[in-house]
Amino acid sequence: MIEQERRIKELMALKNSDNCPVIAITSGKGGVGKTNIAANLAIALAEKGEKVLVVDADTNFANVDVLLGLAPKFTLLNYVLDDLPIQKILMKHESGIDVIPNSSGSSVWKNMDQVIKLKLFELLYQMRKKYDYIILDTAAGLSPLTIDLAIQANQILIVTTAEPTAISDTYAMIKVLDSVQQDLSIDLLHNMVTSATEVTDVYQRLSLVLQHFLDITIGIAGYIELDDKVRQAIQQQIPVLLSFPDSPASLNIHNIAESILNQERVVPTVSETLQ
Ligand SMILES: Nc1ncnc2c1ncn2[C@@H]1O[C@H](COP(=O)(O)OP(=O)(O)OP(=O)(O)O)[C@@H](O)[C@H]1O
Ligand SMILES: [Mg+2]
Repeated sequence: MIEQERRIKELMALKNSDNCPVIAITSGKGGVGKTNIAANLAIALAEKGEKVLVVDADTNFANVDVLLGLAPKFTLLNYVLDDLPIQKILMKHESGIDVIPNSSGSSVWKNMDQVIKLKLFELLYQMRKKYDYIILDTAAGLSPLTIDLAIQANQILIVTTAEPTAISDTYAMIKVLDSVQQDLSIDLLHNMVTSATEVTDVYQRLSLVLQHFLDITIGIAGYIELDDKVRQAIQQQIPVLLSFPDSPASLNIHNIAESILNQERVVPTVSETLQ
């Protein structure tokens, strides 16, 4: 066990050594749009020439495959339980991205031990050498796997909407992440936006309390408008970037991908957001 702990720490320390950012898409509240963002952001990066892997790390309700219209034969569960080679699990999506699908609700994930955690970290370590970007779609909330994966990522995109419950869950999530590891790179991604002022209001409210009570500064990854084309795309199981490339949500997602590529991490001061 001590050997495993040591290796986990070693892999954590190596997270910046490869030129492949791992981006964890997470949230406090469920249903805020993480999976849709993970899949479409990956496609946007691939369209800009990057080699991208999406890992479905939501072990409660794994559904990246559903959103992409894929029918997996094997999943990440077969990798951790049966030692199935990852090449047998990896799926190629027509958009050019690779996908590691997952299985929902297995008790393995609920009682995740150090052995499984180490296997996942080793997998990410290997995959970092093969891709330009790795996008992790995680479960909402404070599950141990979500926290472990988020702190192992190079960037955390925390998705929220303007609902007060989503905002307070975002605060709680950031508080817990920071208590596990400080100095994480956390950026707010505001989804289902209905007005420009909403974006600044939500960021301002959150950043004020985070700064005041926890001395944490977060950045802004961008925003995605409330757009019925997202719902239609999910219904058709064709990502919105492919089914409705000119829709507001698709354009917003391209903007987010662009700032990720340009490594533009915006950390506005509170007074700037007021303008
Ligand atoms: N920008 C948007 N505009 C309109 N509807 C959206 C938008 N983003 C997401 N949705 C709606 O929200 C639903 C939930 O999205 P999604 O499954 O991506 O959320 P999630 O955060 O991954 O949920 P969970 O926490 O259950 O994993 C979608 O089915 C879609 O109908
Ligand atoms: Mg999801």
